[in-house]
Amino acid sequence: MNKPVPVTDWISDFDHTDPRWTENPYPIWDVLRAASPVVHTDRFLGVYMPTTYEAVKAIAYDTEHFSSRRIIVRNSRPPITQSAPPITSDPPEHKPAKQLLLPPFTPDAMKKLEPRVRAICNELIDQFINEPGVDAAARYTKHIPVRAIAHMLGIPEQDGDLFIKWIHEILELGITDEDTLMRAIQEMSHYFMGHIQARKSKPTDDLISTLMNARGPDGQPLSDMHVLGSLRLLLVAGIDTTWSAIGASLWHLAKTPADRERLIAEPELMPTAIEEFLRAYSPVTMAREVIKETTITGCPIKSENMVLLSFPAANRDPAMFHDADKVLIDRKENRHAAFGLGIHRCVGSNLARMEMTVALEEWLKRIPDFRLDPAGKVTWSEGTVRGPRQLPLLLGAAR
Ligand code: HEM
Repeated sequence: MNKPVPVTDWISDFDHTDPRWTENPYPIWDVLRAASPVVHTDRFLGVYMPTTYEAVKAIAYDTEHFSSRRIIVRNSRPPITQSAPPITSDPPEHKPAKQLLLPPFTPDAMKKLEPRVRAICNELIDQFINEPGVDAAARYTKHIPVRAIAHMLGIPEQDGDLFIKWIHEILELGITDEDTLMRAIQEMSHYFMGHIQARKSKPTDDLISTLMNARGPDGQPLSDMHVLGSLRLLLVAGIDTTWSAIGASLWHLAKTPADRERLIAEPELMPTAIEEFLRAYSPVTMAREVIKETTITGCPIKSENMVLLSFPAANRDPAMFHDADKVLIDRKENRHAAFGLGIHRCVGSNLARMEMTVALEEWLKRIPDFRLDPAGKVTWSEGTVRGPRQLPLLLGAAR
């Protein structure tokens, strides 16, 4: 595979997989935003990127010109053979597919799940609390969403490494490597088909059975393919995202002792702190395919291009947020777009918020003192979901 040519002009030739973007995208977005509300690159067969909150919102709400049939910017555009409703659906198919997924993720359902998530966090902390340091991404933040979603779906929590491997192959390696992408999707489909088949003879009371028992808008049970697509979506959408959000929050607290001490002294600030971490370090950037020519905030948009729909860049727009580049854990007004805007807004936001809150609360209770390990390196995942994948921390007051 050819290595991409390094970027020399971000404004006309941006590349969201460039290591400089992955490492610290914020100054690059400032440059792009100052140039135009929508920029374009010829890379990845042609991609626009809205840089302001207003332009991101306009595209997210416009399902006539922008389709979700492709939601990841990749080097190639293979034929669409696998769907993952509702995230890959457009109206009118989108609404019924989404409504099926909402009931298991209500705030009440999350309250019931919360004790299990608290127990998971403590089991993980028990494993390293007596060590001087830990890679918190590998040993803490990663496992919380894996185990929570496995618990909800009724699949073995021990299969977590397999899920993480598929997600890495689909969301990162798959940007440039179509074979790896297709193999990962097939492996995942095979895995879930096994679980679907098993429940046909022996029904369970988990989310897989709930989906299998659900009825579509025509009153008929969902096809196996529909159930399969939704299961693949829940696994991909539910793990990397929250892993990243918890990791970025811990990273911030590790390097900002004043915020860490304040959050411990004033735990009532947790809800605004969580929203601010979601805004400032939003992990999820989606994509759309342009299906009809149009104009967005005065910029012409041509079809056959993709759009890099950066909710994270929208969240750093100074026209929408005062001190957009500062992290203010008591920020009052915070209408961030971390969970998306428009019809595709996140189904799992209640779960994500609960996991983030519990993960930080339990960590701060047991490990009030921690900091970045100067001998280690923090690394970030690239592309669709950005978050710390290596987060070396020293535990306890400076020893
Ligand atoms: C901090 C964690 C999370 C973030 C930042 C996040 C972000 C997002 C974003 C930005 C979208 C919109 C996609 C689009 O416009 O194309 C989305 C959709 C979605 N998310 Fe999340 N998500 C998170 C966690 C979760 C979890 C835990 C689940 C469930 C297990 C989940 C399930 C979904 C689903 C099913 C959709 C598709 C909704 C639709 O198409 O109508 N997400 N998420």
